[in-house]
Amino acid sequence: MEVFSPLTVETQTGILNVTIKNPTSKKFPPPLTFRKMFLKSLINIVEKYGSECSDDLVEEYSRILSEQVDDNEGYFSYKINEVDTITLQENTSFVAESTTGLQTWEASKYLSEWCIKNHFVLENKSILELGSGIGLLGITVLKFCSPSKYMFSDKSWAVLNKLAANIKINFENADNLPIEQHQLVWTTMNDEDAQRLLPDVILGADLVYDADMIESLVHALKTTLLNSSSCAYIANTIRNPETNEKFLNHLGAADLIYEELKTHEKDIFVYNKSSSFKMYKISKNKINCC
Ligand SMILES: C[S@@+](CC[C@H](N)C(=O)[O-])C[C@H]1O[C@@H](n2cnc3c(N)ncnc32)[C@H](O)[C@@H]1O
Repeated sequence: MEVFSPLTVETQTGILNVTIKNPTSKKFPPPLTFRKMFLKSLINIVEKYGSECSDDLVEEYSRILSEQVDDNEGYFSYKINEVDTITLQENTSFVAESTTGLQTWEASKYLSEWCIKNHFVLENKSILELGSGIGLLGITVLKFCSPSKYMFSDKSWAVLNKLAANIKINFENADNLPIEQHQLVWTTMNDEDAQRLLPDVILGADLVYDADMIESLVHALKTTLLNSSSCAYIANTIRNPETNEKFLNHLGAADLIYEELKTHEKDIFVYNKSSSFKMYKISKNKINCC
């Protein structure tokens, strides 16, 4: 953040009111390390541009320094528009409880934006999400896309438990939502699972990050793309182009047809500046799919 004039006490108060003291942030505090880092950066900026820190800022910082909680845990609030915010309890460790799924990954923001902008594709559809993680995509679709049913799935119970808690945070009427939560492991998915779930649309975000998992993911897609009218929308973060290429090759080898969708504007979520994405529509049959 580049600031060219001293930050007055009033400006500091304004910044605190929309961040640390914001009611959402008070009720659902971000991880302690994030709050500390934010206040420390603010203090550095205030001092660098020749002002004194307000009493309020010093007090907040001292209070946070004395807080002692498990600092990998905390809430992240994603502002979607002036009215809607999605709040998720996350764990900031890259791998926690043996899973990568306890935090929101970049491609799920990208696919969530696509879903909001293309909500008509999902309206009245029965949707299965593979590798749901803690729920940003599904909660977004439930709030903005009116699906007839949304089936969250993941292999990890730790993830599914946190997901259930996140659904409750974001919906007062959580018990009446058209949702299901399934423990599904891609390698063992079979025709019986597919018949039981029978999705119109399959969604998946940031599932192509480990080349060794691609075969089982493609198996899961092929198994659940039962009808000629069903299709999958998969969003990948491109970390290693070869891994993405391998995914596409496996789709081809499994006789699945894919089409790369054109990139959409990223104007809802805040992204890591270095992230780049590719999104694919995948089906068994090019002509009739949704
Ligand atoms: C990188 S995380 C992405 C989570 C979420 N889609 C997101 O973008 O925030 C990958 C997710 O896939 C799940 N996963 C990994 N391998 C799986 C498998 N073989 N079967 C089912 N789920 C799996 C993990 O538990 C984790 O929640």
